[in-house]
Amino acid sequence: MKRTVKVGIVGCGGIANGKHMPSLSKLKHVEMAAFCDIEADRAEKAAQEYGVDGAKVYQNYQDMLQDTSIEVIHVCTPNHVHAEITVAALEADKHVMCEKPMAKTTEEAQEMVDAAKRTGKKLTIGYNNRFRQDSQYLHKVCEQGDLGEVYFAKAHAIRRRAVPTWGVFLDEEKQGGGPLIDIGTHALDLTLWMMDNYKPKVVMGSSYHKLGKKKDAANAWGPWDPEEFTVEDSAFGFITMENGATIVLESSWALNSLEVDEAKCSLSGTEGGADMKDGLRLNGENFGKLYETKVELNSGGVAFYDGKAETDADLEARLWIDNIIEDTEPVVKPEEAIVVTQILEAIYESAKTGKAVYLS
Ligand SMILES: NC(=O)c1ccc[n+]([C@@H]2O[C@H](COP(=O)([O-])OP(=O)(O)OC[C@H]3O[C@@H](n4cnc5c(N)ncnc54)[C@H](O)[C@@H]3O)[C@@H](O)[C@H]2O)c1
Repeated sequence: MKRTVKVGIVGCGGIANGKHMPSLSKLKHVEMAAFCDIEADRAEKAAQEYGVDGAKVYQNYQDMLQDTSIEVIHVCTPNHVHAEITVAALEADKHVMCEKPMAKTTEEAQEMVDAAKRTGKKLTIGYNNRFRQDSQYLHKVCEQGDLGEVYFAKAHAIRRRAVPTWGVFLDEEKQGGGPLIDIGTHALDLTLWMMDNYKPKVVMGSSYHKLGKKKDAANAWGPWDPEEFTVEDSAFGFITMENGATIVLESSWALNSLEVDEAKCSLSGTEGGADMKDGLRLNGENFGKLYETKVELNSGGVAFYDGKAETDADLEARLWIDNIIEDTEPVVKPEEAIVVTQILEAIYESAKTGKAVYLS
């Protein structure tokens, strides 16, 4: 029997309702005890839907942090307040899961890492794609050394027309950027995790604001307002690592391309390769022949029942709460997430200056 963990949610919008609250509510030993949003009705609604009896509702996260019975805070706000809220929550003796990207800048991300170290509290970032079945499988393949030394990788985050038009996603000031920081971040996190390589050396980047200028555009979430669209619509990076490995990162919310895919990576190693596009495929050479294997990620189900499978969001939440109960390290470590932020920031800088950015 696991002990009860009380959780508070800050920011009761899209990702809180789409991921955190549904998954946490499936864990019998979690009590969702507090909800905060600057829009009071959102916190009220979340408390009614997911809260325990007597769940508290706040408009100011500082008030929520005063409650000493809350052990864990999930930060689900726009990017510009990730660092501020996370640091305050750590200082208030809470463990924190903060949504991706970790922060707008490396400086802010460093403040978060420092606060976690100073307080001894746990900090993780919501890179839920690591918990997908294909990612979990591929990570084991990599850990086992089946691909050998991975010296070339591609991080895919290409959408043809899927610009998020709700909230503040188009606002440079509040988000720190567009598709690169929003979805490029997932693809890069996955790639670095698979390579187990967190030592970038040189970064080159380019970013574009071309289709974002168009009015009445076709878009998965309806047309955007070009006046509000202050971030890039696509950005690309070329990253060389200290050990000589190369990563190509591609990201777009809007791009005239039929090669769409996101939160995926392709890896090329000395002993084999892996591709997450069109299902997980492994490739290499055996007995003088090239082979390609598709990994069947089923749970051994029968007719009309695919077999029991936990969603990536459910697995992320369960393992995180277990980390707290059992005092173990989270799957997504802050020291890893900060490197993602560092590389993304370098791509933006290189895109602005036209120069390579050297990271030590
Ligand atoms: N893991 C994923 O795949 C994924 C997917 C979508 C969004 N996200 C991340 O989640 C975060 C939120 O995105 P969203 O789509 O939920 O946005 P959203 O606009 O739907 O929700 C954000 C909520 O935070 C509230 N808020 C803003 N400032 C606040 C503050 N200071 N205190 C309390 N509440 C505050 C807003 O009122 C809003 O209700 C972003 O950082 C985004 O990158 C992650």
